[in-house]
Amino acid sequence: MSQSPPQPVVAARDLRRTYHLGEPVHALDGVSLELPKGSFTAVMGPSGSGKSTLMNLLGCLDTADEGTVEIRGQPVASLSDGERARIRGTEIGFIFQTFNLMPRLTAAENVALPLVFTNPEGVDRRERAERLLSRVGLGDRLDHAPSELSGGQRQRVAIARALANEPALVLADEPTGNLDTETGAEIMDIFAELNAAGRTILMVTHERHIAEHAERIVHLVDGETERVEQLDSAGRKDGSEGSTAAGTGAES
Ligand SMILES: Nc1ncnc2c1ncn2[C@@H]1O[C@H](COP(=O)(O)OP(=O)(O)OP(=O)(O)O)[C@@H](O)[C@H]1O
Ligand SMILES: [Mg+2]
Repeated sequence: MSQSPPQPVVAARDLRRTYHLGEPVHALDGVSLELPKGSFTAVMGPSGSGKSTLMNLLGCLDTADEGTVEIRGQPVASLSDGERARIRGTEIGFIFQTFNLMPRLTAAENVALPLVFTNPEGVDRRERAERLLSRVGLGDRLDHAPSELSGGQRQRVAIARALANEPALVLADEPTGNLDTETGAEIMDIFAELNAAGRTILMVTHERHIAEHAERIVHLVDGETERVEQLDSAGRKDGSEGSTAAGTGAES
């Protein structure tokens, strides 16, 4: 067999999505995007420019009217609903702006939820949830309900949940949108670690300084890619926010 170039984790071509609620809204009007393995991409753009719509399509939460999404070479449209749900549950970690935690479950139970896909018998689920929560600095908040946690802590539970199945792809829609600057920087440290460990990350943000943690910024305007900005190492933040040491304070 001949060597082919490495397959991107996600390849989206010419995505179009129109919402029909009264006047048709062309939320996405022909967007193409490839996410190479291990890449870190930010998406910026005005409110309503189609950022969340794009995330939902790439995350298999919605399907495009036109265009294709391939996840690791698999065209998503050719999959059954069940197969799509499995990809969503095992290959993709989704972090929503509003956290979407289950209010009646504890932090540990929330994190353990996605493990039903990979570990239906439930062996070690609790242990694994504990390990994930410790990794985001919440080892002492395992049995707190979301309402008993701060916003930043909830976001960290959502991140731990997104990582439960060690997904190849992490999709984050404004992961720091509701957080103060310091907590936002902590979340970016976690993302930098994930990316260093080989995870592919796509992150929507309104904040330039948050986007600068990525390797490139895709700028969306009116459902189209206005431009793709490559950040060289000079323009890129390294996750340690002003500190000179590499890999500061990373717990394992
Ligand atoms: N379910 C829906 N039904 C109808 N219109 C929708 C729906 N979801 C989004 N839209 C419209 O599609 C456009 C793109 O929405 P989208 O949520 O992708 O924007 P966004 O870039 O994420 O904005 P924001 O920065 O405010 O989150 C908007 O004009 C929005 O009103
Ligand atoms: Mg949005």
